Amino acid sequence: MRIKGKKVLVTGGVGFIGSKLAESLLKLGCRVRVIDDLSVGSIEAVRPLLKNKNFEFIKGDLLEEGAVKEGLEGREVVFHFAANPDVRAGSADPWTHLEQNVIVTYRLLEGLRSQPSKTLVFASSSTVYGEAEEIPTREPYGPLLPISVYGASKLACEALISAYFNTFKVSSMIFRLANIIGPTSSHGALIDFVEKLKRDSRQLEILGDGTQKKSYLYVDDCVDAIIYALEHTSKPFEIFNVGAMDCLSVETIADLVSERMGVAPRYVFRGEEGGRGWKGDVRLSWLSIDKLKRLGWEPKNNSEQSIRRVLDELLESFPDKIDF
Ligand SMILES: NC(=O)c1ccc[n+]([C@@H]2O[C@H](COP(=O)([O-])OP(=O)(O)OC[C@H]3O[C@@H](n4cnc5c(N)ncnc54)[C@H](O)[C@@H]3O)[C@@H](O)[C@H]2O)c1
Repeated sequence: MRIKGKKVLVTGGVGFIGSKLAESLLKLGCRVRVIDDLSVGSIEAVRPLLKNKNFEFIKGDLLEEGAVKEGLEGREVVFHFAANPDVRAGSADPWTHLEQNVIVTYRLLEGLRSQPSKTLVFASSSTVYGEAEEIPTREPYGPLLPISVYGASKLACEALISAYFNTFKVSSMIFRLANIIGPTSSHGALIDFVEKLKRDSRQLEILGDGTQKKSYLYVDDCVDAIIYALEHTSKPFEIFNVGAMDCLSVETIADLVSERMGVAPRYVFRGEEGGRGWKGDVRLSWLSIDKLKRLGWEPKNNSEQSIRRVLDELLESFPDKIDF
């Protein structure tokens, strides 16, 4: 599909990934409408885009039918990035993920049902695989048995999207994202360590036993992968993993953060049984990106480069954030 010049909707488009995606789509000459209820994201993330005549912002809650209708009006491609992305929130309150992830996606699909010419692009997650036995994990892996409510909610969204494609011909692309990082990310181990070390550089609390391994992808690479895949495939339904080609242990991240901040804290490990950081934490998550590579896409950064880049940007752009 040729994305250039398309009329698109980005849900959750003031959030961490959505705002970067909106910016890239504008650069490609798209007419970009963003809808976000500002429950997490801040309008500051898209402030520079508001001047662009091809950019439009709607403050709206996608749980409301009216907001969905207004958002979809006249759009050709819908990038659905609105969600509650915090895995930990699901063990405290499972309804959050059911409502913000599953019900919101259902509302959007219902809006698309009568307009199947539009394409849906969905931000899913590596958590749908649960504790996969195949590492790196390829897209056809199964059975998909998530261990977090968040992962279950994303898998439920995928199931609905598949059903709406087969029943109502809503073309869809599903992207299962690894840990996406950038200086404006609101959560994750990297930001958590930086914040903790700002408060006390002598000691660092690490959630889990530190041996959990995951792959980390810089947000620009993530946006690039999604746009590349859309432009290089013509199938009406596709699933792609998006991640780095390697993975790192959580303790290695703590080492990289400490080194970059010039501190040598004592590590204190806390968390759930089995060495997990929290309930639903997948101990080893590493996606195979061979499918994207076969299409001709590769990330510019590996996990360590992505982490070093975010640390550099945090220190350069937000010096007040790391003041110790
Ligand atoms: N960040 C990651 O590492 C990661 C990894 C895998 C998947 N994802 C998925 O990618 C997407 C974007 O993640 P992110 O990290 O940018 O999250 P984010 O929280 O920064 O952005 C989500 C945005 O959605 C908005 N939103 C939430 N509920 C809404 C509603 N009912 N109506 C309108 N807007 C609503 C929030 O205000 C926020 O701006 C999410 O679907 C997330 O599950 C993210």
